[in-house]
Amino acid sequence: MATASLVSAALKRLEGKVALITGGASGIGEATARLFSQNGAKVVIADIQDDQGHSVCQELHKSSASYVHCDVTNEKDIENAVNTAVSKYGKLDIMFNNAGIVGVNNTNILEYELSEFQRVINVNLVGVFLGTKHASRVMIPARRGSIINTASICGSIGGAATHGYTSSKHAVVGLTRNTAVELGPIGIRVNCVLPYVVLSPMAKKYFK
Ligand SMILES: NC(=O)c1ccc[n+]([C@@H]2O[C@H](COP(=O)([O-])OP(=O)(O)OC[C@H]3O[C@@H](n4cnc5c(N)ncnc54)[C@H](O)[C@@H]3O)[C@@H](O)[C@H]2O)c1
Repeated sequence: MATASLVSAALKRLEGKVALITGGASGIGEATARLFSQNGAKVVIADIQDDQGHSVCQELHKSSASYVHCDVTNEKDIENAVNTAVSKYGKLDIMFNNAGIVGVNNTNILEYELSEFQRVINVNLVGVFLGTKHASRVMIPARRGSIINTASICGSIGGAATHGYTSSKHAVVGLTRNTAVELGPIGIRVNCVLPYVVLSPMAKKYFK
């Protein structure tokens, strides 16, 4: 019995915390939403896959999870997602800027379209920039918070993915470093994770 209560206490490492997870309807974001929820956090899932996002929320405890439609390339959507977390749960402790796309599987620079390059940069980099900006808007007055960005192993090496994807993930590492320097002294930690291959719907589709 004592062991069981120790285990359940250890599982509640995020009790009282409020987390906003972009790309939380699928893959790494969905798994994070489930884990955060199991650990006691209130979770807001922000995604463009509305049915999937709602269905993940329904599986989590109703009072502790919400879905908001949010295209991370649209500043109004990000602003609204952050405001939703604050209005529903009173604050924002954790911003997980995780939404991302890999784009078309083409590594030939001559064939890689500008529009495709910009599309990937928009979601993977501009989305992280907007998420960081609007999370900071509510975290700075509180003088605390944690911002976590999903980069990739492609943020550290070349030749493993397309030019748009690799460029965007290198840039996410740079943005993380810059904002960590700015926000760290105020009490807001900014970090990024660089996953290798994770068997998510994105990876399955890309690697066939
Ligand atoms: N799976 C891997 O092997 C791997 C490795 C390294 C990094 N990553 C990164 O992990 C993150 C999550 O990817 P995943 O593997 O879980 O893929 P996934 O496709 O399963 O999940 C990505 C989620 O992002 C959402 N999304 C896409 N565009 C969006 C937009 N404009 N606005 C809001 N949401 C949007 C999708 O709807 C989806 O729910 C991405 O940033 C990806 O680059 C994945």
